[in-house]
Amino acid sequence: MFKWLIIIHVIGATIWVGGHLLLALRYLPEALRDKNLELIKAFEKKFEIIGFPALIIQVITGVWMAITFYQVNFIDYSSAIAQAVGTKLILLLATILLAINVRFFVFPKLTPKNLWWLGLHIIAVTLIGICMLYLGVSIRFGGV
Ligand code: HEM
Repeated sequence: MFKWLIIIHVIGATIWVGGHLLLALRYLPEALRDKNLELIKAFEKKFEIIGFPALIIQVITGVWMAITFYQVNFIDYSSAIAQAVGTKLILLLATILLAINVRFFVFPKLTPKNLWWLGLHIIAVTLIGICMLYLGVSIRFGGV
């Protein structure tokens, strides 16, 4: 069972981090250069259909593994593994807040002039995703 939870968790990680790396390294520079909002909007529209379910699956499988296999109780963060899991949850919260900001405040007012502001959000979510990946791998090595 543990093996399958890791496999599902890692597939989710490839979708979430891979999708954001593609967006940040290929689509964003092109959109900024050409001041082309549609490029990002088209990518987001296609990506959100698999990106958000992937993130939700990350949370379910991650919390499941933390409770059942690492005995993390989400109250006591004294062990290094619990700290890595707790940090992941804080980064998850940051990701959700950034996504809400983009969806409700940045996207509706997006113009070619303020595209860089969306770009900063994309870069932040990508870097946070990489940090979550680092923390995830570190769990196997006893925590951060
Ligand atoms: C964008 C979100 C996330 C990414 C990219 C991510 C990525 C990863 C990666 C790459 C691993 C290593 C798997 C391995 O060692 O075989 C991992 C493990 C783990 N993650 Fe996540 N993770 C995310 C979210 C979460 C969340 C929200 C939780 C729960 C709080 C969580 C809990 C865990 C746990 C407990 C493990 C250890 C499994 C093991 O023994 O390998 N992850 N994660």
